[in-house]
Amino acid sequence: MAKLGRRAFVVGGAALGGAALVGATATLDTNTERRPMKVLVLTGSPRKNGNTNTLAARFIEGAKAAGHDVFRFDAAEAKVSPCRACNACGMNGPCVIKDDFEQLREKLVEADVIAFATPMYYFGFSAQLKAVIDRFYALAGRLHTPKRCVLMMAYADTDARKRRVLEDYYAMLLDYHGWTDAGRIIAPGCWPAGAINATDLPQKAYNLGNSL
Ligand SMILES: Cc1cc2nc3c(=O)[nH]c(=O)nc-3n(C[C@H](O)[C@H](O)[C@H](O)COP(=O)(O)O)c2cc1C
Repeated sequence: MAKLGRRAFVVGGAALGGAALVGATATLDTNTERRPMKVLVLTGSPRKNGNTNTLAARFIEGAKAAGHDVFRFDAAEAKVSPCRACNACGMNGPCVIKDDFEQLREKLVEADVIAFATPMYYFGFSAQLKAVIDRFYALAGRLHTPKRCVLMMAYADTDARKRRVLEDYYAMLLDYHGWTDAGRIIAPGCWPAGAINATDLPQKAYNLGNSL
């Protein structure tokens, strides 16, 4: 695929063949034959036993039990530098930064499903996970293919306005790539690690992973 310029980034999926995406997305949405899928789980919390890591772990259990092939990448454990905006990649090429993101490049391209698990940090995704997402830039030319996505998010507050900021960002990320939402597990009122265990959301995360 030709290198993409900044304009192509701005117009996103529309410039990359919306019609083709629609047909293939419909196939994925049904997944009637329950074929094994490649599931990529990106987590963003530094708390190993934290709420979103619990959701991610249960989601993975469910997905594996359904026969899917799961790859988990913990952004908070990895060394992933922020994008430097050098544009050497031309949005479709090698990145000048050589770090743990290298492990993810082909996994991202191949994934049928991408699950994002993040705490709310100051009304956004955690910086650890956002740094990973910003590095999608170097792969933009290869990511506009049908994928289904999942959002798992925990926050201390219970104000729905705050969760909407992250949900809007997630929806925009999917819209830009031509990806579809396969489900969201949002956990309000969860502050200490382990608070999620007093809810039915880990079971819901399992069910979501199991029903892909
Ligand atoms: C740096 C930081 C920023 C946070 N910002 C918010 C916030 O804006 N709104 C909120 O409700 N909770 C906020 N929290 C609380 C976390 O979202 C909450 O504890 C969540 O359950 C953490 O998920 P985890 O256990 O997966 O790490 C913040 C916590 C930290 C450490």
